[in-house]
Amino acid sequence: MINDEKLIRINMGAMSGDTVADDAHATLCLGIESSCDETSAAIVDSNRNILSHIIYSQIPEHRKYGGVVPELAARAHILAIDDVINQTLNLAGKSISDIDIIAATAGPGLIGGVLVGWMAATAIAQATHKPLVAVNHLEGHALVPRLSAAVASGTWNSNSVEFPYLLMLASGGHCQILLVRGVGQYELIGQTIDDSAGEAFDKIAKMLGLGYPGGPIIDKRAKLGDATRFHFPRPLCNTPGCDFSFSGIKTAARVMLDKNTEPVDDAFINDFCASFQAAVVDCIVNRLEHALGTDAVKSAMPKTLVVAGGVAKNSAIRAAMEKLAAENGMFFAAPPMSLCTDNGAMIAWAGIENWRVGKIVTEPVAPRPRWPLTEL
Ligand code: KG4
Ligand code: ZN
Repeated sequence: MINDEKLIRINMGAMSGDTVADDAHATLCLGIESSCDETSAAIVDSNRNILSHIIYSQIPEHRKYGGVVPELAARAHILAIDDVINQTLNLAGKSISDIDIIAATAGPGLIGGVLVGWMAATAIAQATHKPLVAVNHLEGHALVPRLSAAVASGTWNSNSVEFPYLLMLASGGHCQILLVRGVGQYELIGQTIDDSAGEAFDKIAKMLGLGYPGGPIIDKRAKLGDATRFHFPRPLCNTPGCDFSFSGIKTAARVMLDKNTEPVDDAFINDFCASFQAAVVDCIVNRLEHALGTDAVKSAMPKTLVVAGGVAKNSAIRAAMEKLAAENGMFFAAPPMSLCTDNGAMIAWAGIENWRVGKIVTEPVAPRPRWPLTEL
């Protein structure tokens, strides 16, 4: 397994972060993320340094509802946004006049939250006359491995994640295989036809009464369980194409639990988690194998197989994709854990990448709840 070496420590739920070495000549971008249940800001420079990074997680506020409540999330973003931005500047020892570019998520996501971050960024950019970048949240996930990633080849080298690469983007809201040809150049190879992988993790954890978010808990439980005890379907596996389906796995879990007569003790839960997770891993590997065989991917010859998004934290998915990459003579790259789930650093980095290719806001931008990467 690759190491999560270049991890920036972030105290989830608390407004604090770390600083790393500053480069006075680099371009500085302030990135703001607020599309779901994290209010986050970061200052990242064009030399790939994260000067400061704060993630204010609302997870404790949503936990009792078993998922994110959009109205509560929007209110929490309003309360947190100013502090998060100010503390990010303070941590880096910078004032707003030191910043060169402002970037914020403009979609897709929960629109109340997106509006809060986007309006804050727009106000700062207008007041300071600085360039503004409207970042697609999914592009943040897609490009962050170029800011920082562990590359499985024995050495640490974020420069190794060069275009084009084949990306498994799996989060709470999305599940896609993309050929990343460049900034703003995303070719959709496959996607879910129903639920996302993260949704399946969250819903099955909820059925088991394990809490929210489900992914990290299932990942931990699965390590202790027997993956052969329960038989979950592998929807769409071994059928042509690269699309996913996770709703059948979820229904199978519901039916198994409803019919179950055995005690639901720790061993049961661990085995259930391990069996479910093995099904998800098999689906991901099968669909990626198909993706590697498509004409688009074969002709682009990507050197690196990359995983990103919140589900990229999953240890079994990382291990299986690392093996698949090695079998196909490719590097495997994954962002450090702190840059998998939603964060401001990925938005700041996408801001820098977009600014480099001249993609800055020149007319008013309306935040979008839906914004497919292929529309960039
Ligand atoms: O990217 P993200 O922070 O938010 C969205 O943009 O949706 O992803 C959150 C998702 C949740 O569904 C969470 O359960 C999942 O990422 N997740 C994991 C793990 N850690 C977080 N899923 C599987 N294994 C994990 N270790
Ligand atoms: Zn996300």
